[in-house]
Amino acid sequence: MLIGPRGIFSSSRPLEFHQGKASAIDVSESVISRLRAAGCVFAEDEAALLVEAATTPEQLEALVVRRVAGEPLEVIVGWAEFCGLRIVVEPGVFVPRYRTQFLVQLALGLASPDSVVVDLCCGTGAMAAAVHAALPTADVFAADLDPAEVRCARRNLAPARVFEGDLYDALPTGLRGRVDILMVNAPYVPTDEIRMMPTEARDHEALVALDGGSDGLDIQRRVAADAPEWLASGGHLLIETSVRQSPATRAAFEAAGLVTSVEHSDDYDSTVVIGRKS
Ligand SMILES: C[S@@+](CC[C@H](N)C(=O)[O-])C[C@H]1O[C@@H](n2cnc3c(N)ncnc32)[C@H](O)[C@@H]1O
Repeated sequence: MLIGPRGIFSSSRPLEFHQGKASAIDVSESVISRLRAAGCVFAEDEAALLVEAATTPEQLEALVVRRVAGEPLEVIVGWAEFCGLRIVVEPGVFVPRYRTQFLVQLALGLASPDSVVVDLCCGTGAMAAAVHAALPTADVFAADLDPAEVRCARRNLAPARVFEGDLYDALPTGLRGRVDILMVNAPYVPTDEIRMMPTEARDHEALVALDGGSDGLDIQRRVAADAPEWLASGGHLLIETSVRQSPATRAAFEAAGLVTSVEHSDDYDSTVVIGRKS
């Protein structure tokens, strides 16, 4: 089993944990070797974060045991790094992925300081939080179907900005026709491919966050079909997809009458379809 990170490491601090007479180096060496033996690819970095998160040796031991058992690092430490922010991650929620930062970059390139921005299928609200941090005067909203995700997103965003419900049903009707930037990272894994996902995702993230139906695009198609009703004139819909699925995602945008392009980043290993309402 290989268990890897999802972009959490860049802000980790050097080891500061001390245990009686044992040096931080002794503690970290033992933690590193246990994590490495469990298949953690970045054992040194993970050890530093677990040491940072623990306040006592007993607590460190408990955290290491959880990690060795395969629990996601972000759930254990309670946060994930996303666009330079620490996003609160609660047990059972979808951990924001490194690749999704590309969508945020594209969205910020299209947004202005007074844009109305919606993060639909928001999970922890990481994308909305990143846009709010970069554009504090923008009018940012988020919504998700899963109460656990909504609860978590309300810790990362102003709670009144986060709505619960099925896609657009969750949004205040006053946003209809006014959304300048609609950011969506909906589930897009085909049902048959869920079993091939890393156990960290399969065992610790809800099926509703992963399963996109037979070809993975069930939710994307619903989002695209109704987007013109919610977008302002000249507004943009951005949906994360895969290289393989991007022609079908694009076709869904075109069927909804959007003017469409596909962007890809090798650095983020990320593909985003963008549609503009003319
Ligand atoms: C792949 S996760 C992405 C979460 C977040 N956008 C991110 O990038 O970290 C997909 C999210 O879509 C939500 N979701 C699935 N079906 C939904 C629906 N019909 N309406 C609203 N949200 C939905 C799930 O609860 C989950 O939080």
